Amino acid sequence: MCGIIGYIGNNNPINILINGLKNLEYRGYDSAGIAIKNEKELQVIKSVGKIVNLEEKIKSLKVIESNLGIAHTRWATHGKPSEENAHPHTVGKVTLVHNGIIENASELREKLVKEGVIFHSETDTEVVAALINKYYEKDPVKAINKTLKEVKGSYALGILFIDNNHLYATRKDSPLIIGLGKDENFIASDIAAIIDYTNKYILLEEGEIADITKDKVVVTKDEKEVEKEVHTTNMEKDAKDKCGYEHYMLKEIMEEPVVLEKTLKPYLEDLNKLPSLTDYEEIHIVACGSAMYAGMIGKALLEEYANTKVEIDVASEYRYKNIIYDRKTLVILISQSGETADTIAAMRKAKENKVETLAIVNVKTSTIARESDQKIFIEAGPEIAVATTKAYILQVGIMALLAYKTALTKGLVKDNDKVLEDAKKLPRLVKEVLDRKDEYKKIAKEIYTKEDIFFIGRKIDYATSQEGSLKLKEVSYIHSEAYQAGELKHGTISLIEDDMPVFAILTDDTIKDKTISNIEEVKSRGAKTIIISNERWNTNDLQVVVPKISEYFQPILIVPTLQLIAYETAKLRGCDIDKPKNLAKSVTVE
Ligand code: AGP
Repeated sequence: MCGIIGYIGNNNPINILINGLKNLEYRGYDSAGIAIKNEKELQVIKSVGKIVNLEEKIKSLKVIESNLGIAHTRWATHGKPSEENAHPHTVGKVTLVHNGIIENASELREKLVKEGVIFHSETDTEVVAALINKYYEKDPVKAINKTLKEVKGSYALGILFIDNNHLYATRKDSPLIIGLGKDENFIASDIAAIIDYTNKYILLEEGEIADITKDKVVVTKDEKEVEKEVHTTNMEKDAKDKCGYEHYMLKEIMEEPVVLEKTLKPYLEDLNKLPSLTDYEEIHIVACGSAMYAGMIGKALLEEYANTKVEIDVASEYRYKNIIYDRKTLVILISQSGETADTIAAMRKAKENKVETLAIVNVKTSTIARESDQKIFIEAGPEIAVATTKAYILQVGIMALLAYKTALTKGLVKDNDKVLEDAKKLPRLVKEVLDRKDEYKKIAKEIYTKEDIFFIGRKIDYATSQEGSLKLKEVSYIHSEAYQAGELKHGTISLIEDDMPVFAILTDDTIKDKTISNIEEVKSRGAKTIIISNERWNTNDLQVVVPKISEYFQPILIVPTLQLIAYETAKLRGCDIDKPKNLAKSVTVE
């Protein structure tokens, strides 16, 4: 997703802005740009590709004296990655950067062209700059307000005006914070961009406009001043460092034992700290990507052990479907970033229908965290690698405890501490699993040259295989599909070729022998099967065996093996592991 940073203070902004963009690289981008200004001049420098290209370009130019600027990393939505389409965009007296999508950009552009505006890019962003410029006479906030009444869609905007030395910011649906420093202030898409300079920030709410100087921030809504709370982040500066690991992804996988302990501990001490699901007649789970697959595990556990019917859907479908809310329903939204546009829209759809929402979310200041009725925070800490690992494990852990608590409340399980005792073992057992790196390297060597790989499983093992498949393709670019083990023979088995790797996830005792026969089916057609299980099998397959633990938590021991296999495979293929091509850490656009 696009990244925004802005600065106003006593220093030259260039190094601060570039450093901030580097701290936002994990969001994914394909071009970058910077605009700096002083009382008389404005300078805009843009480049395609990595931020290092922008740095080279800046070094090659004579840059103006300045203490005010904005900068941006662009993840292309309207118009291909190019210098013309890179932000910042200038129209007349207005220069701005934007994260989000203006849905009525083409009709606004048409109107402005008729009024004589000449556009130089294909972007929706330039249309916003042209509108603000159209309405700007003397009062920047008035011009911004008038513009916001006309644009539809999502935006986080950092704005400069050639004839004034303030920094302006506003947002709707896309995140934007205001960092508060000593004789200097910032704007940023997220705190990671400015943590090197301040840990104090203000959250800009929908439709609020900030007028920022180095020693003052005035926030207004509909031109009336709004009092804002100052927050302090507990994000450590080293969260952005790899702490000696080669990649953030590996660092974050290795953090799983610690963050598991931190997240589950309060609930293992007192399950009553978790919300009750038994007050509802219907449960919906809505999410995207890996968060969706964590939800699938939650559904499998709730239905199998807590006798609770669960509807599940990807947010991009749920938000547009005719959902019939005819019973007391709880919509559970799972999101690491809390800023995924589709999941936000699904949450707002539920709220519009007066339906209770529960968020399982990592970023406490995110839109989903702030707008959901109930929230369970996972304590993953900042997750920088685009491919989620530690956050996913924690989402599964929370879903497992919710399922166990529901089963207990319904009297479906005795209050036998074995399940909770097993949960307490998780940090140690996950560490043991993670330490067996050589096994995963060996498997990676077997598969990294392949172009097609399948994952199969039944019931909860199918949900786990979905995440295994996504992790592999996300970081290694190997085509992969997860299939219900019993479904493969209904067509897709025709794709099985000699030596094609097929991972079989085997943990559910009630169904293992069926999956074993599916393994034989693919092996008889030449597949190279790799079994990931909680027991050793008397076959000649490559196997990874993890400790057997309560069914509620078994996926939490399986998935780290799949994460490390994906990581090692991507390494062998020389991929950009932390920032895979085309991907963004938080998909804040539809
Ligand atoms: C997971 O590795 C991906 N980066 C992606 O599928 C992600 O899980 C999805 O975009 C949802 O993000 P969220 O959890 O921040 O809502």
